[in-house]
Amino acid sequence: MVKVLGIETSCDETSAAVVKDGKILLSVVTLTSLDLHVAYGGVVPEIAARSHIESITPVIEQALEQAKCTWNDIDAIAVTYGAGLGGSLLVGVMTARTLAITKEKPLYAINHVEGHIYANFLTETPLADFVLPKKQPEFPMLGLIVSGGHSQLVLWRDHFDYKLLGQTHDDAIGEAFDKVAKILGLPYPGGPSVGKKALNGDPESFNFPKAKMPGKYDFSFSGVKTAVLRTAQTEIGEDHTFPSHKLAERLSEAQKANIAASFQRVATETVVDKTVLAFEEFKPKSVVIGGGVAASPELRKQLAERLPCSIDYTDMKLCTDNGAMVATLGCYKATLNQPAADPYSLIPNPNLSM
Ligand code: KG4
Ligand code: ZN
Repeated sequence: MVKVLGIETSCDETSAAVVKDGKILLSVVTLTSLDLHVAYGGVVPEIAARSHIESITPVIEQALEQAKCTWNDIDAIAVTYGAGLGGSLLVGVMTARTLAITKEKPLYAINHVEGHIYANFLTETPLADFVLPKKQPEFPMLGLIVSGGHSQLVLWRDHFDYKLLGQTHDDAIGEAFDKVAKILGLPYPGGPSVGKKALNGDPESFNFPKAKMPGKYDFSFSGVKTAVLRTAQTEIGEDHTFPSHKLAERLSEAQKANIAASFQRVATETVVDKTVLAFEEFKPKSVVIGGGVAASPELRKQLAERLPCSIDYTDMKLCTDNGAMVATLGCYKATLNQPAADPYSLIPNPNLSM
């Protein structure tokens, strides 16, 4: 039996959780500084880092309390050390290092993207308000990570034995949603606000392009994002020199809804096309989705229509950034003899890849 405390601070969520045996969620406490970023239309790194400093200690204390644990019950600490915002990661890593040294616990360094997929291994919890999958994923497992910072397709043969099949060459899918929201004058985060606007639009009204990539499983979202900008300019009778921040006030609600619906369809098809292709080639036993965009009803609808297997989604609160995904992966690192990190020297890696 192993109980791991997980710490996540890579972007704007300060989160800590305790997970038992890589499948039982004992606690998860998440504070977000999102409200402070809304006015800027995106996460401001300096504000996020300062918020983490204020929140990290109470968040960890609450996570232990909610799990009814003392430090004696905790076997190891896991922390996200990349990828993410440098200042934000630093707060989590320095806190975890200090705790690992003072509480004499092994420390595990977690890749954020890998962590997102491990949220799907949680199947039991005494906590109210969580709907978890009934059984754990099986290997080979195809993982699609769709978040504000990442768009990746990864094949796991077993724990810690994986291959990156493809990834985005430019924007992440969530980032593209956030940028399109800005063009349309919709609030941040863009995924939910574009999705809501799209409900009133016709997804076939514009045929935005899907990028042809050299890698079979790679993605690109910059072309569709630029196509949205050009379409919005054309719709109001202006040329490509018209400033993007003035478009929203000139577009009608119907034009916004049609652009939102068409963009959402094409951006979602971009990742679903490659997921279906990978499913056919590798015939995985399980398909799992991680990252904030996993909440998108359009993504879930397209995957349900086009994949021959059903997907057991984890709770929405575990799709976006959280400490539970970090603690879960930490449990497997601790029990499957993966190397622990040195608490005296671990440093964040903002550009960490898979
Ligand atoms: O995983 P996440 O919380 O943070 C990162 O690691 O980036 O993902 C945040 C992203 C944002 O771009 C947001 O627009 C998107 O997830 N998102 C959604 C939804 N909720 C959040 N996208 C589509 N539909 C949603 N309901
Ligand atoms: Zn994330």
